[in-house]
Amino acid sequence: MDILDAVQATAYLAAAGRAEADPFAGLFLEAMDDSSRALAASGRGEVLARTRLLDVMLLDLLRVAPGSAVVNVGAGLCARPYRLDLSACRETIEIDALPVLQFKDSILSGYQASCPLRRIPGDARSLPPLPAPAIVLTEGLLVYLTHDEIAALATALAALPGPVDWLADIVSTDSAAAMKTLAAQANSPLTLSGLDSLRVFEGAGWTVHDYRALPVNRPPGRPSPPGKASHRIVDGVIHLRLSH
Ligand SMILES: C[S@@+](CC[C@H](N)C(=O)[O-])C[C@H]1O[C@@H](n2cnc3c(N)ncnc32)[C@H](O)[C@@H]1O
Repeated sequence: MDILDAVQATAYLAAAGRAEADPFAGLFLEAMDDSSRALAASGRGEVLARTRLLDVMLLDLLRVAPGSAVVNVGAGLCARPYRLDLSACRETIEIDALPVLQFKDSILSGYQASCPLRRIPGDARSLPPLPAPAIVLTEGLLVYLTHDEIAALATALAALPGPVDWLADIVSTDSAAAMKTLAAQANSPLTLSGLDSLRVFEGAGWTVHDYRALPVNRPPGRPSPPGKASHRIVDGVIHLRLSH
């Protein structure tokens, strides 16, 4: 089971979306075609917002759990080890398809990461052995997995041999449908699935420790964030912890 080329190409979209906040993003973007640029522009606000939230949540977690490994699944062209001080972590492990990681290596080889860094070609649907304690990061990944694949990932992460925190962005079913339409219009057909509840995580033993809504595309008048116990899904970033 391969990670489709069209899905791998979304690594460029995410990098383009945060170019104004990520000095490394521009290094990756010459390879993008015009339709991808248009698609990236349409999602820019959301990507920037989620990246900023995840930056803050990751650094906060590393302050209280120094020595953890940071495991970035579907890392794409994320340059966090270069643009943030992650020296409090034991190491950062980045997992993605081999071509994505090879391209990233070729661009970033002259730059110094703030922590030990390993890139492992792999698939979120069959993770390699991972260390714990760990802070797992999935940014822009879950929307490309089916409900069953997310459930399997949640179970696999819950089985790591030690404390695990999981930071992830969450996309609602409505937003996933809208993204799918935009992608089709940009000749980049993608299968995207959103979430209509957090039970897929809770069923594997995770509890929602924090849930922050993205400050974009929110219908006026709706309260946010949704709260830890809520099953109402808005686009946002969650911090999951194991409840056992
Ligand atoms: C939208 S990009 C996000 C990349 C990065 N996390 C970021 O925010 O810049 C999605 C990434 O997930 C990767 N991906 C998709 N499905 C995957 C899977 N099953 N296993 C590992 N990586 C996957 C893609 O190759 C791509 O790099």
